[in-house]
Amino acid sequence: MKFLVLNGVNLGRTGMREKGVYGTDTLESINRELAAFVKANGHEVDFFQSNIEGELCSAIGNAEGVYDGIVLNAGAFTHYSYAIRDAIAGVKVPVVEVHMSNVHAREEFRHKSVLTEVCRGEILGFGKYSYYLALESFWL
Ligand code: DQA
Repeated sequence: MKFLVLNGVNLGRTGMREKGVYGTDTLESINRELAAFVKANGHEVDFFQSNIEGELCSAIGNAEGVYDGIVLNAGAFTHYSYAIRDAIAGVKVPVVEVHMSNVHAREEFRHKSVLTEVCRGEILGFGKYSYYLALESFWL
């Protein structure tokens, strides 16, 4: 199978911003680890990060027929982007929502995701391992 790991707004600064919340590994190093993990399990993976909502919508739309699953950490877009929600609802590719932090133990505005309803499932609170678990969910 072939997967897309999609990261949204501010995730490109993982390892540099709020290290106490998101850890010290950069997105690049996390992606390198994930690539090795996926390959070791006999699958393929691509990566894309954008701070631009429309680019994420396009990436989701263009995933149809190309990927078997998307792992999506939309960052703060999670909490208010109806555009990303509609993009997910508009494709047959299953999407697993991911968060590194336990959003329910943080500020109230993070407790609500407008994406979960249209996702296959949600994994949160396990740092970079949230991505591992989300990917694994596609082949377990
Ligand atoms: C996040 C949680 C969001 O609330 C936040 O805006 C992020 C990262 C996470 O991975 O824990 O940017 O999605």
